[in-house]
Amino acid sequence: MTTPQHPEDFLRFMRMRSAQENGIFWVDDQRLGVFEPEAARHVSATNWHRFVMHDRLVDMVRRRRSPEMRWSRIRSAWLTQLHTLATAEHHGRLIERMERIMDARVGQDVDLTMLTQEVTLRSLLPVALTGLTSGEAELVRRDLEMKLLRLVSPEPGSTWHHLRFIGVQIRSGLVVRRVLRQRARGRRRREADLADPFVDLLPELGMDRALDVVTAVLTAIGGPPGTAAASLLYEFVRHPEWQQRLGEELSGVDPAEFRAAPTRVAPVTHRFVKEVLRMWSPPLLLVRRSKFAFDLGATRLEPGQWYLLSPHMIHRDERIWKQPDVFDPDRFLPGAPHGPADRTCYVPFGWAPKKCIGANLGTVQLMALCHLLCTRYRLEVARPENITMALRFAPVPENFRGRLTLR
Ligand code: HEM
Repeated sequence: MTTPQHPEDFLRFMRMRSAQENGIFWVDDQRLGVFEPEAARHVSATNWHRFVMHDRLVDMVRRRRSPEMRWSRIRSAWLTQLHTLATAEHHGRLIERMERIMDARVGQDVDLTMLTQEVTLRSLLPVALTGLTSGEAELVRRDLEMKLLRLVSPEPGSTWHHLRFIGVQIRSGLVVRRVLRQRARGRRRREADLADPFVDLLPELGMDRALDVVTAVLTAIGGPPGTAAASLLYEFVRHPEWQQRLGEELSGVDPAEFRAAPTRVAPVTHRFVKEVLRMWSPPLLLVRRSKFAFDLGATRLEPGQWYLLSPHMIHRDERIWKQPDVFDPDRFLPGAPHGPADRTCYVPFGWAPKKCIGANLGTVQLMALCHLLCTRYRLEVARPENITMALRFAPVPENFRGRLTLR
C-alpha cells in the first residue's frame, strides 16, 4: 500500500490503518506508528528514562568529555521557575500583553490565524527570555516567526528566503549567548524567565548546551501555543451556543480570581479549552528515535529505529472515544459516557518524562483568550462557512479573516 503524500490524506490513511491494526503499524519502511495509548506511554517512559544531554560536537572538537547533564535536571529547573511564575500577578501581566497586541489590531480586517499566533508568541516570549533590548527582542521574535511560517506555510520558501532564515537564526542564537554570558558576569540583570536557571548551571552545562536548552523553550512557545489558539478561535466562531455559555460564565467571574485560578473559577471554559486541545492537538506527529528494543505484540521496535507518536491520532480514535470527530466540551464532565476512558487517552501535552512543561501556562493562556473574546472584544468573521482546517505540522485554520472591535 503506498502512503499518501498530502497531509490530510496521510492522516486519513493513518487513521484507517490504525483502526485495522490496533494502533501499531509500520507507516512506511522507516517509521513505526505507535498510536495505541498504553504502548505510547510505555515507549516514551522507557526511551527517555535517565536521558542525558551530551555536548558531542564541542567534545569532539576539543577532545574532551563534558560533565553529564541529566535531562531531568533541565526539566526540574524549568518547572521550578514556572512554579514561581504561576501567580495571579504573572498571569495578569501575560493577559495585559495579549490585550496590548489585540488592542493594536482593533477595527482592522486581519488574518485571524496569524493574529492568534502573534498574540500567543509575543505574549509568551518574556516568560522564556526577557530583559532584551528592543533590537535583540526583534531579532529573537523574527527568528521564531520565520520558524513558524515555515511550519504553517504550504509553500516551500525560495533559496534566498532559506539563507535569510539561517542568518536570522544564527544572529538570534548570538543574542541568547550574549544574554546568558552577561547575566553570568553581572553585566545584565538576572530575570525571572526560563533562561535564567541556566546562568547558574553554565559552568557545568557549557554555553552550547545552554543555548540548546533556551532554544528548546523558544521553539516550543513558537509552535503549539499559537496553533492551539487559532484552533480555539476556529471552534469559538463555529459554535455560537458555546460562545454564549462561555460568555455567561466569564462575565460573572471576578477578574482577580480568574487570574489566580482560572480552571477553578471557570470550569465551562476549561472544558472548552480541553476539547479544542483534544480535537486539534498540535503538533500532529512527534518523530522519535528508539534507544531500546520494544516488543509491541505484532511487531518489534529495535534500537535506532524511528517511531511516531501522535496525540491527534489517539484523540480521534473511535476505539477509544465515542464520536471523536464531534466537538463537545461536555465530554469532560465527570463521568460523561463519551469522555476519556483513562489518563492515557487524553495526551495533548505528550508523555512523561518529556511531557510539555508549559501545560498549565498554555491552558491559562487559552482560557485568557476566551476571557478576552467574551468580555473585552467582539469578533466578527465575514464568512465563517469559508474557514477550513488545514493539517500541516499542526492543524491550521485557513481563509480565516475577521475583525475585532471593543465591546
Ligand atoms: C497549548 C499550548 C501547548 C501545547 C498544546 C503544547 C504541546 C506540547 C507537546 C505535545 C510537547 C511534546 C511532548 C512529548 O514529546 O511527549 C511539548 C513539549 C514541550 N513544551 Fe509545550 N505545549 C504548549 C505550550 C507550551 C508552553 C507555554 C511552553 C513554555 C512555557 C512549552 C514548553 C515546552 C517544552 C520546553 C517542551 C519540551 C519538553 C522536553 O523536551 O522535555 N509548551 N509541548
